[in-house]
Amino acid sequence: MNVLWLCATVSLTVFSVSAQLNSYCNSNDSMVLKHFMDGMDTAIDGWTSSSSNCCDWDGVTCNFAGKVTGLELSKKKLVGNLLDSLTNLDQLRTLNLSRNLLKGDLPSSIFQLQYLQVLDLSANEFSGSLPASVNLPSIQLLDISDNNFEGPISPGFCINSTGIMVLKLGVNYFNGEIPPEFENCRSLEHLCLDANFVSGIIPEYLFRLPRLLKLSLQDNALSGQLHNSNPSNLVYLDVSLNYISGNLPDLFHTFPNLTYFAAHSNNLDGKMPFSLLNSRSISSLILRNNSLSGSIDLNCSAMINLLFLDLADNKFTGFVPSNLPSCTSLKTIDLGGNNLTGQIPESFKSFSSLCYLSLSMCKLNNLSGSLQILHNCPNLTTLVLSRSFDSEEMPSNANLEFKMLKTLVIPECKLKGMIPVWLKGLTKLRILDLSWNELTGSIPPFIGSLQSLLYLDLSNNYLNGVIPKSLTQLPDLQVYDNTLELPLEFPIFMRRGMDGKVLRYSYGIRFPPTLDLSNNFLTGPIWFEFGNLINLHALNLKYNELSGVIPSSLANLTIIETLDLSHNDLSGEIPVSLVKLGMLSKFSVAYNNLTGIIPSGGQFSTFLVSSFEGNPGLCGEFVLSCLKNQEQLQIQEFENFEDSIISWPVLAGFGIGFFFAVILLLVLPRTRNTQNMDKLE
Ligand SMILES: *[C@@H]1O[C@H](CO)[C@@H](O)[C@H](O)[C@H]1NC(C)=O
Ligand SMILES: *[C@@H]1O[C@H](CO)[C@@H](O)[C@H](O)[C@H]1NC(C)=O
Ligand SMILES: *[C@@H]1O[C@H](CO)[C@@H](O)[C@H](O)[C@H]1NC(C)=O
Ligand SMILES: *[C@@H]1O[C@H](CO)[C@@H](O)[C@H](O)[C@H]1NC(C)=O
Ligand SMILES: *[C@@H]1O[C@H](CO)[C@@H](O)[C@H](O)[C@H]1NC(C)=O
Ligand SMILES: *[C@@H]1O[C@H](CO)[C@@H](O)[C@H](O)[C@H]1NC(C)=O
Ligand SMILES: *[C@@H]1O[C@H](CO)[C@@H](O)[C@H](O)[C@H]1NC(C)=O
Ligand SMILES: *[C@@H]1O[C@H](CO)[C@@H](O)[C@H](O)[C@H]1NC(C)=O
Ligand SMILES: *[C@@H]1O[C@H](CO)[C@@H](O)[C@H](O)[C@H]1NC(C)=O
Ligand SMILES: *[C@@H]1O[C@H](CO)[C@@H](O)[C@H](O)[C@H]1NC(C)=O
Ligand SMILES: *[C@@H]1O[C@H](CO)[C@@H](O)[C@H](O)[C@H]1NC(C)=O
Repeated sequence: MNVLWLCATVSLTVFSVSAQLNSYCNSNDSMVLKHFMDGMDTAIDGWTSSSSNCCDWDGVTCNFAGKVTGLELSKKKLVGNLLDSLTNLDQLRTLNLSRNLLKGDLPSSIFQLQYLQVLDLSANEFSGSLPASVNLPSIQLLDISDNNFEGPISPGFCINSTGIMVLKLGVNYFNGEIPPEFENCRSLEHLCLDANFVSGIIPEYLFRLPRLLKLSLQDNALSGQLHNSNPSNLVYLDVSLNYISGNLPDLFHTFPNLTYFAAHSNNLDGKMPFSLLNSRSISSLILRNNSLSGSIDLNCSAMINLLFLDLADNKFTGFVPSNLPSCTSLKTIDLGGNNLTGQIPESFKSFSSLCYLSLSMCKLNNLSGSLQILHNCPNLTTLVLSRSFDSEEMPSNANLEFKMLKTLVIPECKLKGMIPVWLKGLTKLRILDLSWNELTGSIPPFIGSLQSLLYLDLSNNYLNGVIPKSLTQLPDLQVYDNTLELPLEFPIFMRRGMDGKVLRYSYGIRFPPTLDLSNNFLTGPIWFEFGNLINLHALNLKYNELSGVIPSSLANLTIIETLDLSHNDLSGEIPVSLVKLGMLSKFSVAYNNLTGIIPSGGQFSTFLVSSFEGNPGLCGEFVLSCLKNQEQLQIQEFENFEDSIISWPVLAGFGIGFFFAVILLLVLPRTRNTQNMDKLE
């Protein structure tokens, strides 16, 4: 009793105190907000006219005098134009309207607010160019990223806004050069111009701005070379996806605090400079997709902080550097797409920090010895060796153990032999890709007892025998699970796609739960129990010799997007229940011996004749028309029908490559040749 009463009193008191703090809205400001509200096409949550005191409304902050000092309406999904009237809020300090659907030109008077400290209009649809004159003397944080602004960057930002600390203009259509007036940004700590069309050189004075710690210029049209001669405070520098050319100058000693340096996808060539190879500060070094050459000679006694090394897709030569294990912080290495030769060095035996290793598209040899060495790495979780070995025997050494391994990717190496027994010990494995090799024998039943397996690709081998029933018992494929992404904290970068939308790329691996056994010589049935694998996004069994019926249980795979059973010997009817599969976008049962009527409705109304052709006994309402006579159809007589089907154009085979190809490309640089996909004709 007493406790309850106490609580009630306390909360009442708190309530009245806060009510007292909330002063009554200034009538002029109240008018402005009402105008703003009327200007929106949508209602503003928490802005009812029930309280006439606008200081009580959600996201509105007032000072003691009842003047509006803050407006924070992010993620309210407002639609409309920003009215000029907001600029009559003469005490406004914070304006946060990020992630709405605000559109149109931004009234230039927004850039004249004398007291504004925080302006966040990010992720809207504002367009037009910025005013030539900016007068925001109090501004500290200005974020207008992810809009459709165009034209040059206003030079005024740092002239009249001397206290600005954070300036984010990324993901717009700004062009022209970085204005020389930015030299006045004495307080600037973070400048982001990502994903614009900014051209010219990177002015050296940016590196000297006394407070600047983070400079992000990725995905622009910047050119020239990097230059710097005086010590810089920068901690984070990203100039990726530009046209920076020539050597990387030997200037990294002028960046004693630089921990993150990314310059991927430029036109850099030559060798890595001494000061970079000896940087004590750098922890992430990302230089992928350039033309850098020479051998990779990091000085690990100096690079004590190096954690993330991505030098993929360059022209480095020589062996995989054997000194990398002495970079004692190094966890992630991607050296794929270089002309590296030899085998994994013996020294990697003691590489205890190593978590992620990708050496795709190198010219390595001795897979057996290499795995023998790597299996000693206690923390190795990801191993990607696509197309890096050639025509070797799949190591069958039973003592291989990779206790921590979650991802094992060794496709396109023409590996011979059988699926090895040592895979049994990889109990943490989530992704297994041994596709496009020359593996023979049958799929061992133990694959079905890999507790965490979510992605299995054994396609394009010479596997035979019956699909082990145990595959239908894979535990993690039997529960819905949205964590398709491996929990690797890799940098993310953005690019604008063809359609103007921003795409976010990540180095993390993102594979949809998949079972791909296509292009083999598998026989026997498609088990009814495949219907248990409700977490599957793709089931690909095409180009095998599977027989029996299509189990109706597949209708339980409610999130499946790709189901390809084409080019087998399946008979019977297509289960009508499959029309329930609402996510199904790629479907084929072509070239089997199916009969009956093609179900209609649902996603089935979107599939073309190529999904069904090559089944003499199959016809449908919309494709492979069942002839004129309904009665004839019901008694399933197809003699006449067979004649008519011959006249159908024979469409090209069903070439499903990859989904999420963009992300895959980053991880496994390999090109799929669609012609090869039909290797079994
Ligand atoms: C409203 O604005 C007018 C004109 O700027 C001014 O004269 C008046 O004092 C203001 N009223 C309040 C309550 O601030
Ligand atoms: C604006 O609000 C969003 C969502 O609450 C938040 O993420 C963002 O950091 C805010 N912007 C500023 C500058 O505080
Ligand atoms: C600075 O503010 C003044 C006063 O509003 C304005 O006249 C001038 O154009 C502004 N300067 C720049 C470079 O925007
Ligand atoms: C690097 O950072 C330290 C503090 O972390 C600071 O004292 C030092 O001035 C910085 N170095 C340079 C060149 O700015
Ligand atoms: C590689 O860099 C070039 C420019 O040098 C760019 O056009 C291309 O998109 C980049 N490739 C990837 C996969 O990022
Ligand atoms: C590697 O770095 C260490 C420590 O900074 C230094 O003493 C040594 O001279 C460097 N080695 C080379 C070959 O530069
Ligand atoms: C790759 O390196 C080997 C030896 O290091 C060399 O013989 C070969 O020409 C190089 N290939 C390419 C394409 O650079
Ligand atoms: C290996 O991983 C364990 C636990 O995941 C961690 O405690 C240990 O520090 C890691 N070893 C190294 C050398 O990073
Ligand atoms: C393969 O590597 C192992 C381990 O380093 C080594 O013992 C063996 O001699 C190598 N084999 C060949 C053919 O190079
Ligand atoms: C599929 O779901 C139905 C009920 O919707 C159930 O009767 C059937 O046993 C399920 N089949 C499988 C293989 O899970
Ligand atoms: C197709 O199935 C029918 C029976 O439904 C059978 O008579 C015929 O031989 C099969 N054709 C092929 C090519 O397997």
